[in-house]
Amino acid sequence: MSSSNSSVAVAQAATARSPHESLEKMTVQSRNLHDEAQQYTPGGLSHNARYHSPYPIYMKRARGSRLWDVDGREYIDLWMAHYDAILGHAAPEILGPVRDALANGIHIGLAIEQEVVLARRVCEVVPCADRVRFCSSGTEATMYAVRMARAFTGRNTILKIAGGWHGANTDLMVDVFPPDYGVPEGRGLPPELTRATRSVTYNDIEDTARAMREAGGDLAAVILEPVMGAGGMIPAEKEYLQFLREETRKSGALLIFDEVITGFRIALGGAQEHHDILPDLTTLGKILGGGLPIGAICGRADVLDETSILRKVPKQERVIVGGGTYSCNPLSMAGGIATIDTLEAMEDELYPNLERRNQTLCEGIEKAFASQNIPVTLMAPASLHAVHFTREAGHPVRSMADVLEHTFPEKQIELADRLRVHGVFELHAGALSAAHSDDDIETLIAAYERCAEEMAEAGA
Ligand SMILES: Cc1ncc(COP(=O)(O)O)c(C=O)c1O
Repeated sequence: MSSSNSSVAVAQAATARSPHESLEKMTVQSRNLHDEAQQYTPGGLSHNARYHSPYPIYMKRARGSRLWDVDGREYIDLWMAHYDAILGHAAPEILGPVRDALANGIHIGLAIEQEVVLARRVCEVVPCADRVRFCSSGTEATMYAVRMARAFTGRNTILKIAGGWHGANTDLMVDVFPPDYGVPEGRGLPPELTRATRSVTYNDIEDTARAMREAGGDLAAVILEPVMGAGGMIPAEKEYLQFLREETRKSGALLIFDEVITGFRIALGGAQEHHDILPDLTTLGKILGGGLPIGAICGRADVLDETSILRKVPKQERVIVGGGTYSCNPLSMAGGIATIDTLEAMEDELYPNLERRNQTLCEGIEKAFASQNIPVTLMAPASLHAVHFTREAGHPVRSMADVLEHTFPEKQIELADRLRVHGVFELHAGALSAAHSDDDIETLIAAYERCAEEMAEAGA
């Protein structure tokens, strides 16, 4: 690395060795807050994914594509509130309607007109949605979807993807965190869980067909994300989705797309619109709330209607979905309606623009690492991306098994740490928003170039 200024050169050398040392100098207030937080909250955090070394950076403000931390540092954000802020942070299109809703009360806890409007809008734009029910998080949505599938089919076995994250929902807490699969995900989970829920390898038709055969007439549903977020934005291949669609139909099981990340992102109607494949049920969250808490289960009328309060059946015949003090709260409904309306109005230019910028960014990232002889494989579905540090450049990454066998996940963490030093915030993957400009993309590529140089130097 060349620099005419010796003190800068020293700082750069230090950064190359340890991004944490540099971060610790720049984020003193965050360290203090995390020290204090640990007195009250185990580990100092209520959401585990928000932890990163050496301690979480505490944020104060977010606008557009930018974040500001408690020490006053500015970042270009790629985490974008768990990938939910597709219109940018605090988008005026959302803020206005949410403020208007606030003027009528924070939460009423009774039926409101806006829940009818949002339900209609979801049914209009999500291809599989004959009906929809709202809840307050994606975790609740996947919990209910699995329950509905078991109730509708009268069967018990659920197949999920190894490494797939659907929230901390007990039913799906099987083979989530790598590297060890086939063992309990932790203490406190029912021992019978791994009999009822089993995992298969993403994009592996043979492995999935075998598991489906084994489950036989007890298969209630297959649940998967059309882009696997936790694996590092790995897209499902169309043939795999088609195979699942055909085989679940043949076997009388339901196909559930967890579109909590991909809904309204891969296309307005989600990945199911993009691939033209209709699941029986879909779970939604994130973007749907416009930044406010939400979850939803939508899909076939005959499956959803079993959960109707108007259905007069004995208790044993009921399908309990509901509860949730904050379900359909006015602020989330207003955020959701404004989001869908805005995305629909901008659809023709927004999605192609997001994709174009993401491609430019990913090409820039690829070049940055290639020029330092660091092999990577980029995942870039629509406006999502992740850098996988593969053993050979461009080695395919199609499943968590590939991530474990062919990549160095710890380098992804190192990259995110280094990016923070250079004013870019991401955890293990990124998402662009309407607020990310072409200038932002250039600045981002320059930051990745710096990180690639440092990683090469640290490796050397
Ligand atoms: C694919 C997927 N499903 C479900 C969830 C859970 O959603 P929530 O965090 O809103 O409970 C997440 C959260 O990250 C997710 O990525």
